[in-house]
Amino acid sequence: MQFAVPPRKGPSPPPYARASLLTFHRRKQLKATAILTLALLAVFFLLSQLFRNRAGNSAAPIGTSGVVIVTLLDRASYSDSYLQKIIKNREDYAERHGYTNFFANLSDYDSYIGNSPRSWGIVPAVRHAMASHPSATYFFHLDAHALFMNPNESLEARLLNKHRLESLMRRDVPVVPPDSIIKTFSHLRSEDIDLIATNDAEDLATGSFVIRQGDFARFFLDTWFDPLYRSYNFAKAETHSLEHIVQWHPTVLARLALVPQRVINSYSKDSTHAAVDGTYKDGDLIIRFFECDTDPKRSCEKEMGPYYSLWAKKLKIE
Ligand SMILES: *[C@@H]1O[C@H](CO)[C@@H](O)[C@H](O)[C@H]1NC(C)=O
Ligand SMILES: *[C@@H]1O[C@H](CO)[C@@H](O)[C@H](O)[C@H]1NC(C)=O
Repeated sequence: MQFAVPPRKGPSPPPYARASLLTFHRRKQLKATAILTLALLAVFFLLSQLFRNRAGNSAAPIGTSGVVIVTLLDRASYSDSYLQKIIKNREDYAERHGYTNFFANLSDYDSYIGNSPRSWGIVPAVRHAMASHPSATYFFHLDAHALFMNPNESLEARLLNKHRLESLMRRDVPVVPPDSIIKTFSHLRSEDIDLIATNDAEDLATGSFVIRQGDFARFFLDTWFDPLYRSYNFAKAETHSLEHIVQWHPTVLARLALVPQRVINSYSKDSTHAAVDGTYKDGDLIIRFFECDTDPKRSCEKEMGPYYSLWAKKLKIE
């Protein structure tokens, strides 16, 4: 019978030999030097990445549109005449300011969304828009059930200009209303910002936000769409996932600007949960018919009708 024999050990050095004390010190020194070198290399790498990203983000090549408006359309659930109104309104707005529209189709993302709520479709839609327009700088996701009501006001003037953004950024306020412990940073400057959003009385709004193309945007969208979050059954699906990410990842919070709701997200009077001063007023850039698509007592088409007429009259479109 054969017994397993443990592998033979080589002769071990005598534990307290004087001769090995020197090499012990020397080894320690070498180890410290190696660690220091690695640390320096890491810092250098991080800094070079940082500057490379900043430089890469700063300007879109001349001749390409800087802003892409991303609209996710559920063509199966709404009448063509309703969808055409939304499209016409956005085409007019984009044309005035040299922006590009990206009309995504919800059914294209079914295989990505899987069994999760279909409201998740906005994340692959924005990702798709970015892949399709690699040299555009800003991607403005605006929920389909919304209209541009002040066509002459550009997004730069309303929000994106450095000084404008700086003056709008809400600092040291709860990220999730009314009183989350995590608050927006107070030291951020407009150049730190890659994600601009608003909140209503209850949540961070996913129906209207601007994200700047770059490594952060790709990381952020991939994180947001993580299968773990999608299968977690958050009560408010992608909205709660976003709130989770923003509160638990300081790297995301450090790129986020919260601006007052009415800057890009005014709610119609029939929408519930508007923030204080979040309801649409004449002259606002955008009106959103928030949750008209999920509240069975409401009709998006009926609510939008009068505002579309008002807009068309202003422009003398029939
Ligand atoms: C969505 O569908 C419309 C109509 O079929 C099509 O013209 C458009 O290109 C589609 N959008 C995208 C992003 O594929
Ligand atoms: C928008 O601007 C154009 C060109 O500057 C001007 O002709 C038009 O009257 C303006 N429209 C509105 C609704 O202010």
